[in-house]
Amino acid sequence: MRARYNALKGFEDILPPSSGLWKELEDKASRVFLSCGYNEIRVPIAESTDLFARSIGETSDIVSKEMYTFMDKGCRSMTLRPEGTAPVARAYVEHNLSILPPPQKFYYAGPMFRYERPQKGRQRQFHQVGVECFGAGAPEADAEVIYMLCRFLEAAGVRDFRLDVNSIGDDKCRPVFRQRLVEFFAPVKNELCPDCQRRYEQNPLRILDCKVPRCVELRANAPAITDSLCDECRAHYENVLGFLDTLGIKYNKNPLLVRGLDYYTRTTFEARSSLLGAQDAFAAGGRYDGLVEEFGGPSTPAVGFAVGMERLAGMLEGNAALPVMDAFIAYIGNGTPQRALKLAAGLRENGCRVELGFGGSLKSQLRKADKHGARFAFIIGEEELASGMVKWKDLKQHTSGETPERDAGLLLKT
Ligand code: HAM
Repeated sequence: MRARYNALKGFEDILPPSSGLWKELEDKASRVFLSCGYNEIRVPIAESTDLFARSIGETSDIVSKEMYTFMDKGCRSMTLRPEGTAPVARAYVEHNLSILPPPQKFYYAGPMFRYERPQKGRQRQFHQVGVECFGAGAPEADAEVIYMLCRFLEAAGVRDFRLDVNSIGDDKCRPVFRQRLVEFFAPVKNELCPDCQRRYEQNPLRILDCKVPRCVELRANAPAITDSLCDECRAHYENVLGFLDTLGIKYNKNPLLVRGLDYYTRTTFEARSSLLGAQDAFAAGGRYDGLVEEFGGPSTPAVGFAVGMERLAGMLEGNAALPVMDAFIAYIGNGTPQRALKLAAGLRENGCRVELGFGGSLKSQLRKADKHGARFAFIIGEEELASGMVKWKDLKQHTSGETPERDAGLLLKT
């Protein structure tokens, strides 16, 4: 018996017609991003492990539990990228892009890898389209990035979503908040879930993000981070919200939105949809003003987001349909394959989608034409070969006729 192989657990094939929907979504994303001055960047799929540990945070779930890390043959520890922000920031520093006029804006699309427990909307290989803007610290930049996300979602046809916004402060005010949280949770520390007991020691802000019901209860009256912001962070946050109002973008202030990656400063945001199950966040982002410096570059404010393609496409799956074939060419007899290939080439050069019969009886070829949902069938037999004509059938209107081969394309334009 020959071996049969399946895709790895948590790794999925994207088949037609979904793949067509994905392509359309990626095209729409790049059109919106280009219109806002973003250019595409392509970064490697693997980086040194340290890059992610330093930026996302040693104690984050991603770094502590979910990374695809391995030693290469030169005994270097490398990791399949779990996200795109750290690699793009690494590229920005490595190529000295800070000497170019700010802001420098990049978008990307591609696979990311996290060793998570697979379930609906959560894969081990998943895909993101994302943007990163370097060198703009003004709150307008945060608003522009959120506006871009909303424009993309609108173009994609997503109407039903909630945009949560928060500020998690900066190095000045976050330690104050952290201390307030430690004091708040101290009396109930032992009642927290084991993960949150670890978070209490390492990064108490993440307790605010926990989904375990008892932790949700315990944090009901926890202090809000937005009450601990320093004057600069508060002004930045209020300005971002004001600009979102100016742009007519609806949002929900969510002081619990702390995000699971360590590099964020000030603004964080997330888009959620009730159309998705437990994994309802389909896009997320924020500001990360310290990351470029952390990677050895100059102090550079930055902001961006990423959309999870599986979750986005999952919300739009009803829109996935194979594109209709414009024409199907059935042929039979000596010399007809050549004529069919030439006719197909001519029609395709004019932008038509054309399928060929590839042998068999005329009847079986025409059955295939129906199955392909083609609008027109062209038929070439030895008679047509001699006369330079082709027979045509309109498979939707149920009409038929004959036309000189060179005019076949005109029929498709009707
Ligand atoms: P993130 O929240 O970790 O942020 O991921 C962004 C989106 O990727 C999520 O909202 C979700 O839709 C999708 N996603 C994450 N993990 C999975 C998974 N296992 N399966 C399916 N989809 C998933 C980031 O990655 C940041 N780099 C975003 C960012 C860009 N912040 C600033 N710039």
